[in-house]
Formats: sequence, C-alpha cells, structure tokens
Amino acid sequence: MVHLTQVVFAGLVAWPTIVTAAATGDNKAWPQSVSLKSFIGTEQKIALDGVLANIGPNGTRVPGAGPGIVIASPTKENPNYFYTWTRDAALTYKTLVDEFLFGNKALQPYIEDYIHSQAVLQTVTNPSGKLLPSGAGLGEPKFNADGSRYNGNWGRPQRDGPALRAIALIEYSNYLVKNEEKERVKKVIWPVIANDLAYVGQYWNSTTFDLWEEVSGTSFFTTQSQYRSLVTGSALASSLGLSCDACTTQAPQILCFLNSPAFFDSAKGHLLGNINILSFSRSGIDANTLLGPLAAFDVNAKCDSPTLQPCHSKVLSTFKVLVDTFRDPKLYPINAGIQKTKGVALGRYPEDIYYTGNPWYLITLGAAELLYDAVAQWEKQGFVAVDKTNEGFFKTIYPLARAGTIYRAWPVLNGLSAFSAILSAVTTYADSFVSVVQRYTPASGSLAEQFLKTAPGTPTSADNLTWSFASFLSMTRRRQKQFPTSWVPSSSSSSSLTKVPSTCQATSFKGTYAPALSAGAPNLTITCQSTILFQVNASTYYGENIYLTGNSSDLGNWDLGQAIPMQSSNYTSERPLWFAKVPLTAGENVRYAFVREQDCGQGWIWEDVDVTKGNRTVSVPACVEGEEETVRGETDDAFRGKGGSSGGC
Ligand code: NOJ
Ligand code: NOJ
Repeated sequence: MVHLTQVVFAGLVAWPTIVTAAATGDNKAWPQSVSLKSFIGTEQKIALDGVLANIGPNGTRVPGAGPGIVIASPTKENPNYFYTWTRDAALTYKTLVDEFLFGNKALQPYIEDYIHSQAVLQTVTNPSGKLLPSGAGLGEPKFNADGSRYNGNWGRPQRDGPALRAIALIEYSNYLVKNEEKERVKKVIWPVIANDLAYVGQYWNSTTFDLWEEVSGTSFFTTQSQYRSLVTGSALASSLGLSCDACTTQAPQILCFLNSPAFFDSAKGHLLGNINILSFSRSGIDANTLLGPLAAFDVNAKCDSPTLQPCHSKVLSTFKVLVDTFRDPKLYPINAGIQKTKGVALGRYPEDIYYTGNPWYLITLGAAELLYDAVAQWEKQGFVAVDKTNEGFFKTIYPLARAGTIYRAWPVLNGLSAFSAILSAVTTYADSFVSVVQRYTPASGSLAEQFLKTAPGTPTSADNLTWSFASFLSMTRRRQKQFPTSWVPSSSSSSSLTKVPSTCQATSFKGTYAPALSAGAPNLTITCQSTILFQVNASTYYGENIYLTGNSSDLGNWDLGQAIPMQSSNYTSERPLWFAKVPLTAGENVRYAFVREQDCGQGWIWEDVDVTKGNRTVSVPACVEGEEETVRGETDDAFRGKGGSSGGC
C-alpha cells in the first residue's frame, strides 16, 4: 500500500519547568487501609464531579468556559491546560453519554450543550484551516476556553478529533432515534456528525499528529477510531433513511490499513503506535495501542475480529510488552519490587520526557479497563483461545496456559475450570492496576495527569485532568460489568464493513461540508481561495517561534493575536526554514510580514521594513474550485533584522 506518510517531530517546543502537586498542598495519599472496593466507590463520585466541574458554563473549576466546552484541566500554568481539546472533550463526552445511558438522566443538558458547542466550533477558522470548502479546519486539536481559535504553535492537524466526536454524538443519536426523536437527530445532530464523517472519509490517509501531539505520521489510535466512526456513522445514516458514502467506501480500506503488517512488530510482538516510528529512535511501544482498543471496545465482538478488540491476541501481546517495559525499575523506580503477576504504573511510551516522563493515571486505569473488557468478551464468547502470540500474556497470570489450547466455559470437569481460573486471574490482575492508582491518588481524590516515577509518586503536571476522571468512570463501569452499546456488525450480518479487503488501497472520498445551522452554527459563505506557501529563513533559538501577519483577515489584519504560527518541521542548521500554507482570497494583493515570538514573554520582534520597497507583497492567483489547498504560489524570504535572545525562563 502506498502510504507515504513521514514521521516528523513537533518543532521547537519549550519544555516546562516541573512543579508537583506538592505545591497545592494536596500530597497526602489516599489511605491504603481502605479496600479497593470502597476506594472505587468513593472515587467514582469524585470523578464524576471532577468531570462536571471542568465543563462550562457552570463548571466550578473553570469559570469563563463556554456552555458544553470541556476544559482539559483548570491548571493555567506549568502546564497551561485551560483550553478545550477536541479529543479530550469527545472521549469525555463518550463516557458521559454512557453514564446517561446507564441511567444518569441529569446529564442530558450537558450533552445538549456539547452538541451546540461543537456545531459552533466546527465553523471557527483556525490555523489548521476552515470548515468551507475543504473541511480542513476540523482537524484543529484545541481551542480557547471561550471557543475562539488558538493561534500558538502546535502539533496540528490531529485527525482523531472528528472521529471521536462523531462516535460520541452517534451513540447519543442512536438513543434518541430509539426514543421517537428521529426527526430531531436528522435535523440537528446529523449535520454535525456528517461534517466529521466527511472529514474522516477524506483525510484518514493523510499525515496526522497523534494523540500525544508530538509525532506527525500515521497513528494506530487515530486509525482505529476513524474506522469505528465510519461504521457507526453508516449505521446511523441508514436508521435515519440517509446514506453516508464516505463511510461505506472508506471504512473497509481503513480496516485494511489497521490490520496491515506495518502496524505490528511481529518479531517483538507488539502493535506500533505510529508507522515509521522506528527510524526516529523510538521503539513504537506506546499506550496509543492500548487506548485504541479501549475506544473500539464492543462486548459482543469476537476476539479475532479485525476491529482489534481488547481480547484480540495482538492486543494482549502488546499489553504484555507495554507492561514489561514500564515494569523496569530503571525506567520507573516506583515499580521496583512489584511481583510479576501484579500491575504497575504505566506511562505513554518509554522514551517520553514530557514533565520528565512519568506514569499517567488514565493509562494505568486504562490497563485495568482493557482487562475487564477482555474478561467480559471471553465470558460472552464462552472460550479463551491461547495462541503463540498471546501465550506470554496468559503465562504471566496463569502459568499453565499453553499455545494451541482453547479453554472453554463448559463442560466443567472436576470443579473449577481452567476457563474460570483464567478469567479470575485476569480480573485480579486488572484490580491490581487500580490498586496502583489508589496508592498514588491524593486523599482529596483529585486526579492529575501524571504522578512522579520516583517515590513517593507525587501527582504532577496538570491537576484535576478531565480525561483522568473520565477514565476512572469508564474503568469503574467495566469493573461493574456495565457496557456501552454494541457497534461492531456481527459476522452474520450483511454488512461488508467488517470484511478486510484482500489488498489495501490508499483511497479518499472527497467530502462536502456545511455549518450545522439547526444546532446553532453560524452561517458561512465560501470565498474562492488559493493557497500560498510562505517560506522564510529565520534562525531561531530553542523556544522562539515565527509568525506570519498581514493585511488580510486570513492573516489577522496585522493583529498579532490573530497571526499565523509558522511550522519549523523542516528547519535544519543549513536552512532555518519556517513555513506556513495559507489559503487566501484569489485575486487579492496581500501585504505581509514576519514576527518573532520570544520564549518568555519578552515581547514580539517585528522584522524590519525594507525602506526602498516597503511591505512585502504577494499576489494571490486565481482559484481552482475543489483545489483550494493545492499550493498555487510561494514566497522565498529571509527574516530582516535582528534575532531575539532567550529569556532563560
Ligand atoms: C503538549 C502536548 O500536549 C504533550 O502531549 C506533549 O508531550 C508536549 N506538548 C511536548 O510536545
Ligand atoms: C497532553 C496529551 O498528550 C494529549 O493527549 C492531551 O490532549 C492534552 N495533554 C490535553 O489533556
């Protein structure tokens, strides 16, 4: 398959200084004498309150956030997470929709606010692009708390957002359709979903930053979520009497890609978070491949389903590799001395250095959830099949497991069956990951993003992280054997969407996009545009960024708050290149300039104006309908004037 994506690391990122939650005085640990069950019971409530406190307009921890806007964390400094990420918000709302379906009817107004907020966000022009005509703006990873665009340098686009949002909205819509609200779904929610599905169908095969926002390439988590969005989108469309051609044409190809050898290191026995990652001194061992199957979970799906469920052989084998990696006390000292049969603290990937690279609550909880999911799936299908790929996983907790054996639920001979023994061992193993989280949860129950890898495992990075709380809620439900609605079409159904094509093709379905007016999106008109590639050589120090500004509204009308952040992913010592691809109104003559953004807020540095020639100008060539993103003109500039100097903050 031609999949010409490249792995590129995000440009100059200023590393944060480390502050731990000790600074907040919240460093007393949860009492260890409390049983796991009672810890979970108490924390479940704290987690739900914690999620809701981070959602506008009434969230007590996030004053200023708009209705239905999920703030990632109330922390405003080191790191500043007072933004809304499309991914965090969608994963959180998937969990809230599940909670609603489990009986918490009080959540409905929150869900309705979310629909409205997302309809509006879809129309906000941002550094990834616009909604019209190409849908490119849907790939923007984060927005300000009031729903306005975020202009800073960032790893963009991130193409998992639209897929995850569609998944959450589709699950809620399915409920409404069953409850006599089909017409409202069709009129109000479907137009929001349709934009996201169109985006997935058009761009699933284009390079994307992954969920950790550092690597541009092809991400397993993103691909898996994209597949689910199109399958469930297709089913919803049918139930509304509509069709989704992007879904039916692209889903089989995405599934093909998800199952391609490129995503699995067969020698080491694990899925890879990103394709091509090996060339970038990363192992590819990545919790990306644990969170993907969690987001794709369907209790009724079979373990050999190509949708790569928690109980899939490759997923279990990946689980073992990931856990063994973090078990190493050289990597995570707090995992020293823990028995092989017990869970340990887990992080994003072993090479992580973000906040010194620590365990994450949502990943350690995710490990428990994945095991509860797998147990539920084995119970449903009535057997556990041990093969060469997953044998190592099973042996950890059930040494008698042998590849080539199928352990069946019945008949039960001589008392306890091997099947029950395996399920109970895996459940105990799952619980031990939750116990790790109990050990490092402060007495207040607040869940940060990370906890330090060295004793005493103090919470660190963003505090009260919405996603951490949401992961606690879903883990708890799975442990209580409460499952979200099924989505994988059964193999006996006529659906062709679960069959893996024999050869994979790198296809794309060109989408059409429209503001979801009935959900409250503003109307937009399309102006005919052509893309200009702005290129400037500007030597920068680590932490400094270059922006583009100018006299058109697309360049922010000389307002630096609206300037375009340029990309440094092709910056080398030979050529200090910063670039930006910007669609501009065809036929215009645009004036522009480059500006330096210093690292510690010492102010912007404008480049000098050439006194003989005046402002730089570019004339935007005629547009070609449907090809607004093809580069039709480019500049080749050099930053004029002096550079900045690091503020040393
Ligand atoms: C912020 C991102 O959210 C995080 O995932 C990443 O590790 C850091 N930036 C560094 O690039
Ligand atoms: C950093 C994580 O890597 C990313 O996945 C997340 O979206 C942001 N933090 C916000 O929580």
